[in-house]
Amino acid sequence: MLSFARRRYLVSWLALAGLAATWAVMLAFDWSARLGTIALAPWVALLAFDAGMIGGIAAALIAIGTWLAATEIGDAHWDNVQLVVRSAALLALGVGPAFVGRRLRAQERALRSTTVLQTALIDATLDGICLTDPHGEVLISNKPLRRIALELGLPLSGTVPERLLAVAHKVTEPERYRERMRALAVAPGEASIDEFEVAGTGRVFRGYTSPVAEGRIWALREVTADRELDRMRDAFVATVSHELRTPLTSISGFLEMMEDEEHALGEAGRQYLDVIRRATERLHALVEDLLLVAQIEAQRIELELGEVDLRELVTRAAEAVAPAAREKQIELGVVTDHPPAVLGDSKRLTQVLDNLVSNAVKFTPDGGSVTITLGADGGNARLVVADTGIGVPAEEQKQVFSRFFRASTATGRAIPGTGLGLAICHALVEQHGGSIEFRSREGQGTEVVVTLPAAA
Ligand SMILES: Nc1ncnc2c1ncn2[C@@H]1O[C@H](COP(=O)(O)OP(=O)(O)OP(=O)(O)O)[C@@H](O)[C@H]1O
Ligand SMILES: [Mg+2]
Repeated sequence: MLSFARRRYLVSWLALAGLAATWAVMLAFDWSARLGTIALAPWVALLAFDAGMIGGIAAALIAIGTWLAATEIGDAHWDNVQLVVRSAALLALGVGPAFVGRRLRAQERALRSTTVLQTALIDATLDGICLTDPHGEVLISNKPLRRIALELGLPLSGTVPERLLAVAHKVTEPERYRERMRALAVAPGEASIDEFEVAGTGRVFRGYTSPVAEGRIWALREVTADRELDRMRDAFVATVSHELRTPLTSISGFLEMMEDEEHALGEAGRQYLDVIRRATERLHALVEDLLLVAQIEAQRIELELGEVDLRELVTRAAEAVAPAAREKQIELGVVTDHPPAVLGDSKRLTQVLDNLVSNAVKFTPDGGSVTITLGADGGNARLVVADTGIGVPAEEQKQVFSRFFRASTATGRAIPGTGLGLAICHALVEQHGGSIEFRSREGQGTEVVVTLPAAA
């Protein structure tokens, strides 16, 4: 039925039939005078609209002809003025709607080709994308999304949150997944990014959703290969650092043995030994950092908790960097103001402090200053390590806690480092139930703020 209604020229055929029927009525009842050309006008307009200019003019001529013929056959009369005015009116009706019809059809064609292009565009992306109305009903979806939905076994009907919830039992962390989906349902105005793994297949997907005008956009991307690469990198780092540890331990052992013989070496020999010792220490620190990162990744860090007085750790950290600070004429200040004791692992917290304080000295040019402030903040201990150094550009600051990240201000000046210190600090502070914040202004200085919950 619908395809019949959409058939081109259907309206023209109906209008022609209407024209013929009107003419038949004129003849049958001798109504040519009573009806006049006005009864034929709608059919002319319809024909013009549907069949175009030539069809419209032809319809106008036919209408005039049929009307004249009806008056001939009946006993109606007309004069020349009537003929001219009625012909002009019918011709105008044959031309005007033809223009409108042509323009509408052109617009429809343009709209259709835009839609085709847009569909081709969203189908050509690798991500699954769909748009829903405010209730979550799908309005548009692209091919990749339909394919992923099929592969994941998502139901074919229902709102998007309902469909996503229906496969909760198939992911590796169903409870977290359900919680996220429910959070999405109660906060429809918020954007969110989530990652989930399909149990058994190892496939990992990253979902992104964000409200748009009058609805919500959903995008789904498969990141299995990326996660596999991450896993390989972590495994590689863990293996290599583990393998490096054994020869390093042996080098350190032999170094120690040589120290006993140091007096027998000449001046040059002692210098060489010193260089070897420093290089070994650096390598050792690096390997320990790498191993710690691997442990953090595998969530295998065990804290040995106890009551810790941060003042002691700060004093020791300041003492450790004092020689380096002196060498660079950096003013090193420590301010303590009744910080509460914290429940923590003093070895790990020392690592955090050493990393922050050594960063501050390392990234501050000669003649600058570094201040460590320790105090209380509500029920927490608050530690601030501030410097007047090179800083980190604003756009890079959100990456400082990522592994191996080094800011352009550091690489540009060839300041050495691996970019592991802050990643380790972040993980350790979080594990202590605290928080760490990095604030910096390029060229002016940096402030790292650590808060740790006080021991009860
Ligand atoms: N106080 C600071 N001032 C300026 N930039 C800093 C500061 N602290 C960290 N950064 C920037 O953040 C990056 C990451 O710091 P992080 O401590 O993780 O690495 P690193 O010091 O370069 O190497 P590592 O600590 O592993 O020896 C640094 O390379 C540096 O660009
Ligand atoms: Mg560092």
